[in-house]
Amino acid sequence: MSVVITQETNRHQNLVINRATGLSLHGRIRVPGDKSISHRALMLGAIASGETRIQGLLLGEDPRSTASCFQALGAEISELNSELVTVKGIGLGQLQEPVDVLNAGNSGTTLRLMLGILAAHPRRFFAVTGDNSLRSRPMSRVVKPLQQMGAQIWGRKDNSLAPLAIQGQTLKPIHYNSPIASAQVKSCILLAGLMTEGETTVTEPALSRDHSERMLQAFGAKLSVEPDTHSVTVTGPAQLQGQTVIVPGDISSAAFWLVAAAIVPDSELIIENVGVNPTRTGILEALSMMNADVQLENQRLVAGEPVADLRVRSSQLTSCTIAGDLIPRLIDEIPILTVAAVFAQGTTVIRDAEELRVKESDRITVMANQLQRMGANVTELPDGLEIVGGTLLTGTDVDSHTDHRIAMSLAIAALNSTGTTTINRAEAAAISYPDFVPTLEQVCRT
Ligand code: S3P
Repeated sequence: MSVVITQETNRHQNLVINRATGLSLHGRIRVPGDKSISHRALMLGAIASGETRIQGLLLGEDPRSTASCFQALGAEISELNSELVTVKGIGLGQLQEPVDVLNAGNSGTTLRLMLGILAAHPRRFFAVTGDNSLRSRPMSRVVKPLQQMGAQIWGRKDNSLAPLAIQGQTLKPIHYNSPIASAQVKSCILLAGLMTEGETTVTEPALSRDHSERMLQAFGAKLSVEPDTHSVTVTGPAQLQGQTVIVPGDISSAAFWLVAAAIVPDSELIIENVGVNPTRTGILEALSMMNADVQLENQRLVAGEPVADLRVRSSQLTSCTIAGDLIPRLIDEIPILTVAAVFAQGTTVIRDAEELRVKESDRITVMANQLQRMGANVTELPDGLEIVGGTLLTGTDVDSHTDHRIAMSLAIAALNSTGTTTINRAEAAAISYPDFVPTLEQVCRT
């Protein structure tokens, strides 16, 4: 077994995986901090009063984008490390007008959540942008509800694409019925509602991740949650006080190891300290439907978020159907679940997942094309994928399309493919998992 990184150009790296006979995966590992919680801790820390202390922050490129934007807005954030980061908040409504464009890089969460905060800062002007991928992703899903609140936002293609310009305003509260189950949309409106007098409510068609609700309550915001109707109301203006946030390991990063150990014979991995918030554990339910052997051990509550150690052993996977309300609870894990389905017996169908087309890449098309190159029987559906399991994969040249979750999913597929797989533009993994390759080397045994 060999794993080699080659530098192709100044910007791009290839990951070359040469699968050895007798490969199995073993060990006890930790995954980096949860990306969603890391963004929210930095943002709420910046807009709260007093000091916020963050333990276990993800050091990936996405949270770095959030930190640099909020530094430009006046928050004092200590050097980023996974032990302890301190944020000296500047108080609700007190962000400064930055002297330059704010750049959210590759991060949709940074841009969409930040828009809610900026739009509610009267008399300040902001310009925001991102990388090639982010500048092609739809922003109208947050711009439109913010405009209903009275926000002034301009951008390309009828105000739907970054770069965006924002003239902050005093907003008015709304009840927004979101057409999509999106935590980014929900969080954007709730953050705008913090600075808006009255009750701002968001109702979504299915429950999306609730990290914003949990953290806003911990910081002292007045929030009421109606689980039956998937509605959340924030009463503004809020009082936010800095807190200690302990970030659990990211279940979206753990998912790569869950699938890797499930599909590579004779493997057993323990992944410690993984966040198992019920709005994120769709991956565990899907893997259980697929006959994977995953146990939750040492379950506990850490700073308001459920956490467990996950033990996974290899097993013969079987096909399943993934659709409906389960989709928002595993939306980021669909690329790696597609890999699991390639090695399962039978035909797996993934539906109701059209949102995948507007992620860091079009994850439906990209996963289908790249796995087909390796010999998999995968068909694109308008809103998902159909995967006929059981074909043998052969290593070849594939491409991440600069999408972190595609890069890592293809690396796991390579572990069960004959010959050599070269993943082009594999450096994308550092968006959410800078230590992915060292951890891969650590767990592989031949
Ligand atoms: C996120 C929400 C999800 C997810 C993204 C992170 C968040 O996006 O795909 O990786 O932190 O709120 P949507 O809200 O657009 O579904």
